[in-house]
Amino acid sequence: MAKSKTTYVCGDCGFESLKWLGKCPSCNSWNSFVEEISSKPNEKHTISAFSNFSTGSLPKKISDININAESRIDLEDIELNRVLGGGLVKGSVVLVGGEPGIGKSTLMLQIAIKSKCSKVLYVSGEESENQIKLRANRIGILNDNCFLLNETNVQSILKKADQLLPDFLIIDSIQTLFSSNLDSISGSVSQLREATSLLVQFAKEKQVPIFLIGHVTKQGTIAGPKLLEHMVDTVLHLEGDGHHIFRMLRNFKNRFGNTQELGIYEMNKNGLNVVKNPSESLVSSTTDNLSGISVASMTEGIRPFLIEVQALVSTAAYGTPQRSSNGFDSKRLNMLLAVLEKRCGFLLATKDVFLNIAGGIHVDDTAIDLAVVASILSSNIDIPIQDKIVFAGEVGLTGELRQIPRINQRIQEAEKLGYSKCIIPFMNNKISSKNLDLIYCKSVIDLPKILFS
Ligand code: TYD
Ligand code: MG
Repeated sequence: MAKSKTTYVCGDCGFESLKWLGKCPSCNSWNSFVEEISSKPNEKHTISAFSNFSTGSLPKKISDININAESRIDLEDIELNRVLGGGLVKGSVVLVGGEPGIGKSTLMLQIAIKSKCSKVLYVSGEESENQIKLRANRIGILNDNCFLLNETNVQSILKKADQLLPDFLIIDSIQTLFSSNLDSISGSVSQLREATSLLVQFAKEKQVPIFLIGHVTKQGTIAGPKLLEHMVDTVLHLEGDGHHIFRMLRNFKNRFGNTQELGIYEMNKNGLNVVKNPSESLVSSTTDNLSGISVASMTEGIRPFLIEVQALVSTAAYGTPQRSSNGFDSKRLNMLLAVLEKRCGFLLATKDVFLNIAGGIHVDDTAIDLAVVASILSSNIDIPIQDKIVFAGEVGLTGELRQIPRINQRIQEAEKLGYSKCIIPFMNNKISSKNLDLIYCKSVIDLPKILFS
């Protein structure tokens, strides 16, 4: 019988100490130590049944290693394929994080049942087989190649996976797994570390890619040690506002592709559907001729799309005006309002300002500043912005419009959707367009003249 002992483990980096420490000597984070009851693994556990590391593989010349097209698996989902850098790499481990109820299990189950691979294994420690079948019925595809397993013991999962040798494996979720080598409860730092390292070892050795679904903490980071993110090859986050249908799949780490890709889905009654043309979905056509609405050409990573920015400016009913922002940084909104007040003389200090990015998406691209300013000005004087104008520009503290990157892609996206005018910073004036009327603007001071005269 293995002897159990109490250790304290840093939740951020996995550093172990016999005493509780306020500050981790390894990663310097404060208050990150949690108590763990663990037992030293027995000798026979240390050398896993799936490890051939002990037998040792011989060093090979890099030029002798052949990569063929089959080293990536097509997941029959264009968004996920793209976010992964062109399909799922054999032997890779992908961690998929996200808030509860956002659609992680749905996304993974539909990947499993849509797949044309000969065998896919979906292991759930959270839902029963019946529940998963009900979900699969809802998605509406039933596939003979998808195998379900209700199991939380990692050794037992690996044994069954080794017998089945699926094309890929899905674990829902990593926090429910436990290893019989350790006494601590599932979800604890040492269990997460142990389960992940056994799974990573299996993936590399058998060349079976694994998706790990991971819970997130209140702060939005994946629960468990940061180490978990270091151990896997790719970290994806499924995000979105639970009250809206759009879900974004972002890539935070990718050893086999860039991290600039973004996938957009819609949560419908039959699961998550790929949004083929996000610009068309995110810009409504019914709000024409209403003040306070503008369209921005934004990029998320390298992908351009158009979004609708809505503002409402009204006289403050109470002494302190309210500023509220949905989908846009509220500090940046305050900065833009201060610029409009101080540099351009618009009296907004006594007004309530509400800002909303349609579709419940969150935008970090500062090039939507110009559209935000245009919406606020339009709502303030209650005159609608002409139809078919797109905005792209970052506003500086003096009110000047700063040069923005990827201007060509932004303009092409506006062209594609049939827009006729695009207002861009003067600093981007080397750009020209055949189908779009480009209006170069130096400062937000010039904007009312361009828009409302
Ligand atoms: P789920 O995949 O269980 O979320 P997670 O695994 O991230 O916790 O998603 C559950 C939500 O998705 C639930 O609120 C219902 C919704 N949903 C749909 O709207 N349509 C569907 O077809 C499915 C399967 C789920
Ligand atoms: Mg789930």
